[in-house]
Amino acid sequence: MKANRELWDAWASFHPQTEMYRMEAFRNGASSLMPLELQALSRVEGKSLLHLQCHFGQDTISWSRLGALATGVDFSGKAISTARTLATTLNADTDFIQSDVLNLDLGKCFDIVFTSYGVLAWLPDLRRWGAVVAQHLKPGGVFFIAEFHPVLMMFDFGTGKCAYSYFKSSDPYEESVEGSYANPEEGTARTEYTWSYSLSEVISALTEQGLVLESFEEYPYAPYNCFPNMKQRTDGMYESVLLAGAPHLFTLKMRKPG
Ligand SMILES: C[S@@+](CC[C@H](N)C(=O)[O-])C[C@H]1O[C@@H](n2cnc3c(N)ncnc32)[C@H](O)[C@@H]1O
Repeated sequence: MKANRELWDAWASFHPQTEMYRMEAFRNGASSLMPLELQALSRVEGKSLLHLQCHFGQDTISWSRLGALATGVDFSGKAISTARTLATTLNADTDFIQSDVLNLDLGKCFDIVFTSYGVLAWLPDLRRWGAVVAQHLKPGGVFFIAEFHPVLMMFDFGTGKCAYSYFKSSDPYEESVEGSYANPEEGTARTEYTWSYSLSEVISALTEQGLVLESFEEYPYAPYNCFPNMKQRTDGMYESVLLAGAPHLFTLKMRKPG
């Protein structure tokens, strides 16, 4: 969708300068990957890895630093040009491709397909997404997603009250947002269009394509301070002050038979 692509082009132009993306530490070798994906995909050396919705490439480059042959895909031209510049500056051997994930057809398959944190809400067609994931996996290949939990999205972070249905229509939710999750102070108001999917819709989009579920986990925390009213826990993760105990994240690890 054009409006969302323009929004992400704008966000990608200031996200590298935000505290959330810890660019100086990243340039000095810090990984942007979080414990959940590092534990789930522990051995990536020498493996081909496709990172869907890679933003400006930090996670893709982090996988490559661990020895993966990593390719990042994003529909934002600004995100992809920043990712390419970053990879060149840091001497990372990565590929970055600008494409809508729903139209992706790279004509090759990967050992691992990875995507994370804030990806599904931007997609108007989850079944098509499931087909793209399956199409790009080698037989025996692994898909891993870590994503914000749809139950958390039922609540208003300001009041803690249940404000939205778990089951949404196929029409996008239109909202005017100031700045972005990484810098709400940026000030510019933009319109975003998002969708919400139940866990069964996410799992079915992948099992319908023949992928086999290996693990499904839920967590009461998020790795980023990306919603209003979050507090940091002693383990460094974040939880909503008003929604403590609610599921914040889920992960899925699935395999293509073969
Ligand atoms: C929240 S970010 C993902 C963050 C990610 N965890 C990372 O590595 O930084 C979501 C990304 O999805 C991308 N995106 C949204 N809709 C897309 C689509 N239809 N096709 C490809 N990329 C899309 C945006 O441009 C943005 O970079």
